[in-house]
Amino acid sequence: MVLSHLSPNLSRLGLWASVVILIVSALKLFSLLLRRQKLARAMDSFPGPPTHWLFGHALEIQKLGSLDTVVSWSQQFPYAHPLWVGQFVGYLNIYEPDYAKAVYSRGDPKAPDVYDFLLQWLGKGLLVLDGPKWFQHRKLLTPGFHYDVLKPYVAIFAESTHIMLDKWEKKASENKSFDIFCDVGHMALDTLMKCTFGKGDSGLGHRDNSYYRAVSELTLLTQQRIESFQYHNDFIYWCTPHGRRFLRACQTAHDHTDQVIRQRKAALQDEKEQKKIQQRRHLDFLDILLGARDESGIKLSDADLRAEVDTFMFEGHDTTTSGISWFLYCMALYPEHQQRCREEVREILGDQDSFQWDDLAKMTYLTMCMKECFRLYPPVPQVFRQLNKPVTFVDGRSLPAGSLISMHIYALHRNSAVWPDPEVFDPLRFSPENVTGRHPFAFMPFSAGPRNCIGQQFAMNEMKVVTALCLLRFEFSLDPSKMPIKIPQLVLRSKNGIHLYLKSLGSRK
Ligand code: HEM
Ligand SMILES: *[C@@H]1O[C@H](CO)[C@@H](O)[C@H](O)[C@H]1NC(C)=O
Ligand SMILES: *[C@@H]1O[C@H](CO)[C@@H](O)[C@H](O)[C@H]1NC(C)=O
Repeated sequence: MVLSHLSPNLSRLGLWASVVILIVSALKLFSLLLRRQKLARAMDSFPGPPTHWLFGHALEIQKLGSLDTVVSWSQQFPYAHPLWVGQFVGYLNIYEPDYAKAVYSRGDPKAPDVYDFLLQWLGKGLLVLDGPKWFQHRKLLTPGFHYDVLKPYVAIFAESTHIMLDKWEKKASENKSFDIFCDVGHMALDTLMKCTFGKGDSGLGHRDNSYYRAVSELTLLTQQRIESFQYHNDFIYWCTPHGRRFLRACQTAHDHTDQVIRQRKAALQDEKEQKKIQQRRHLDFLDILLGARDESGIKLSDADLRAEVDTFMFEGHDTTTSGISWFLYCMALYPEHQQRCREEVREILGDQDSFQWDDLAKMTYLTMCMKECFRLYPPVPQVFRQLNKPVTFVDGRSLPAGSLISMHIYALHRNSAVWPDPEVFDPLRFSPENVTGRHPFAFMPFSAGPRNCIGQQFAMNEMKVVTALCLLRFEFSLDPSKMPIKIPQLVLRSKNGIHLYLKSLGSRK
């Protein structure tokens, strides 16, 4: 007997440890079952697609084309249906304007079952925060998006775009289609670094490049984790190869953001640099963060500062990258709209060298096309909440506090009760006449209510400048052999990139 070789104390210890582990596991299982019962009972009055006994709906939502699977469910089950990831996490998946309004006009917290997966990477920044601390940070950062701050960015957007377009001249002359997504991503990161983080115009460094790749990895892994209940437990996840890949990518991302913070702090010690900052008429995002004091004069902690830098570094470039890339795809798909947008921006530019702030408001047709593209290809396809008080919906059905909500923006934008022939690309849906009278929660690419996107104006301005310049210099057309395959990875990406043919129009303004 092996045990007989161990001292009696040691074997008794082993026995106790097993008993403790057994009890803890039993308690954990019991609390999970209790939770399952509570979530399931709350959604009793909502029929939904059949569930697998172990996976719930996870197998369906992990498959390619899952976004359109949910659209077909939304047509089968009006307003909302339960959506289970495994047996213990169940959301009410909603895609109807009145349902959206009932939840999103309130400021309920983000669902920890999703947003906790972002903590290791983004920390407690604006996207993940809740309660009074969220309110304090939101108030603090809002001036960073005042229009006086945004105005000078128009020139910076143009500068970064021209670097990309010059590169595209070379690629276009090779007469092959290529993936624009990755180039747009580097451009959007470059412009964000210059606008919000005051980086010089030294072009994209090596570190930015590895940051860019780390973000692709982190969004892919986070989406996979949301959809795989086996990965929901932290301890188990960190032991898997995917969990370790996640930690490595986090480290790369943090190296980048730490460096940005370190450089600015060092600059603040330098008198010459300090003068330069004082000469800038408006504070940028980092100035605001570093100078921030609460009512009692206490600075943001280093952890809070890092969390906000990580949050804005990610949210500020990956979303607009998706938006711009899918917009150019739509232009290639609908050449007649592409031509009309190009004529509009040509007319607005006239004989000026570059776009001015006031020009952005004149791009009315381009803006309508952009919104129609947001409708069909929302850069953020799904967001999640946990109710902190009960809600009663328009049809009388209700949910208790603690219920989880998945707002399926992608399916909402294809709800045929609001959008006749939803698959048809029709910019006129966003003509002023047609917008009046539409439900305010029928279109929410930037979410809505108190937790909407703080960078909405920044994003619209960037997208207008970038896409207008793209249309002036190139004609875009499809590569039918490489059509994009929609895939949600926190933001909307294409599994195989977005491949387009570019034809130079030979005008560099
Ligand atoms: C086309 C571009 C963009 C889209 C479609 C978009 C969409 C969204 C959506 C749907 C949310 C709500 C997320 C949730 O409820 O979990 C959000 C929040 C947020 N966005 Fe954006 N976004 C865009 C660009 C930007 C930019 C450029 C920035 C920063 C410069 C930014 C910063 C943020 C932040 C910090 C939040 C959290 C706000 C809060 O909870 O108070 N976004 N965005
Ligand atoms: C590029 O492709 C077009 C159409 O496929 C063809 O007409 C043209 O001659 C090609 N140009 C070069 C330089 O290969
Ligand atoms: C409103 O939308 C419909 C359908 O898309 C379109 O036919 C109509 O012309 C639009 N109205 C205006 C004033 O743009």
